[in-house]
Amino acid sequence: MSEYINPDYVPEPERMNVKKGLEGAVIDTTAVSKVNPDTNSLVYRGYPVQDLAENCTFEEVAYLLYKGELPNQSELAAFTKKERSLRALSPAALAVLKTLPRKCHPMDSLRTVVSLLGCEDERIWDDTPATNLDKAISLLAKMPTIVAADYRIRKGLEVLAPRTDLSIAANFFYMYFGKVPQAEIVRAFEVSLTLYAEHSFNASTFASRVVTSTQSDIYSATVAGIGALKGPLHGGANEQVMHMMIEIGDAAKAESWMLDALASKKKVMGFGHRVYKSGDSRVPTMKKYAQQMAQVTGESKWMKMYDGLEKVMVEKKKIYPNLDFPSGPAYYMMGFEIEFFTPIFVMARTTGWSAHVMEQVANNRIIRPLSEYIGAAQRKVAPLSQR
Ligand code: COA
Repeated sequence: MSEYINPDYVPEPERMNVKKGLEGAVIDTTAVSKVNPDTNSLVYRGYPVQDLAENCTFEEVAYLLYKGELPNQSELAAFTKKERSLRALSPAALAVLKTLPRKCHPMDSLRTVVSLLGCEDERIWDDTPATNLDKAISLLAKMPTIVAADYRIRKGLEVLAPRTDLSIAANFFYMYFGKVPQAEIVRAFEVSLTLYAEHSFNASTFASRVVTSTQSDIYSATVAGIGALKGPLHGGANEQVMHMMIEIGDAAKAESWMLDALASKKKVMGFGHRVYKSGDSRVPTMKKYAQQMAQVTGESKWMKMYDGLEKVMVEKKKIYPNLDFPSGPAYYMMGFEIEFFTPIFVMARTTGWSAHVMEQVANNRIIRPLSEYIGAAQRKVAPLSQR
C-alpha cells in the first residue's frame, strides 16, 4: 500500500522541491563541527579531526565537544575524575542485561540499558546546562561498561567492574577482555573513538536533535541516536564491512569480488557518503592505525583486501571508502566480536550526540518539517455494512 499513488495527484508547484533524504537541506546552525566536502575536512569546534586524533586523548576530545574548548591540565583532571567516578552500573542495569535474549543484537541491549539509565535518573526532566552536562558525562562513562558487561554476559564470563586508574579506552579493553593490551592497540582504539565522536547532522545526531526539540530528555535522545546508528546505512556499516571481508576470504579475490558486486549493482558497505564525494577525511588516519594493527597482529590479509576493494571501487565508480571501511578490520584485529563494532561506535558518538542535545536545548525550536501528500483524494467514510 505504501507504493500507492493517487492517480489524480497533481503536484503543487510550490511544493515540488521534495528533498528526499533531506539531501542538501540546511536545517539549523551548529557550532559543534563542520564537514567540508570541498576541502575534504572535518573540524570539531574548529580543530581538524586528524589533529585531534593524533595529539589528544579521547577524554580531551569529549571535553572539547561538550564545552567548546580543549581543557587545560586542571580542567582535564577534574573532568577525568568525574567521568571515572560514574562508570559503574546499577545492579538493576546489570540484571536487565542478564535477562535479555542472548540472540538480540548488542545495539538492542545498549539501547535498552540506556533507556533504563533514564528511568534511574531523578533529574531526568532537568535540562539545565549543568545538569545536562552531568548526564552527558555519565553516559560517556557508562556506555563502555554496558557494552563490555553485555559481551561478558553473553560469553558466560564474570562481569568486570570498571577500573578508575585507566583511560576510557584502556578500561574498555580491561572490562571486555580482562586485560589491557599493548599500548599501540589501546592508542589505535582511542584514535578510532576520536574519529567516530562527531560528524555534524548525520542521521543519528539528527534523530537525537529531533527528540530533544520536543523538550524530551537526553536519555530519550540517546536512545533515538542508538536506534538510528544501528542501521547498516549508518553505523552498522562497520560490522557489515567485516562480514563482507570474511565472506571474500582471500585478498587475491578482492578485485574480482568487487567487479561482481558492481556488476550486480550491490551496495558495498563501507563505501560512499552523503556529504563527502571525493574521500572521507577520517579515513587516512584510521587506515594508518588499521595498518599498524596488521603489523602488531601479523594479520596482513585484511588490509591487502582493503586495497584491492578500494582500487576497483575508485577506478570504476569514483566512490571512496568511509570511516567504517578501515575501522571494521581494525576492530577485528583488536579482537572484538563483530556484533560489538557498532556499540563501540556508540561509545564514541555519545559525545557528539550530547553536544548536539545541549546545543539544541540552548536554542530550541521544535523540528517539524512538511511532506507532500500523494495519497487518496479526500473521501467519505462508508458505514461498515456498505464496504
Ligand atoms: N556501493 C555501491 N554503490 C554506491 C555506494 C556503495 N557503497 N554508495 C553509493 N553508491 C552509488 C549508488 O548506487 C548511486 O548510484 P546511482 O546514482 O547510479 O544509482 C550513487 O552512488 C549515489 O548513492 P546514494 O545511495 O543515492 O547516496 P546516499 O547519499 O543516499 O547514501 C550512503 C549515502 C552512505 C547511505 C551510501 O553511500 C551507502 O549506502 N553506503 C554503504 C553503507 C555505508 O558504508 N554507510 C556508512 C556511511 S558513513
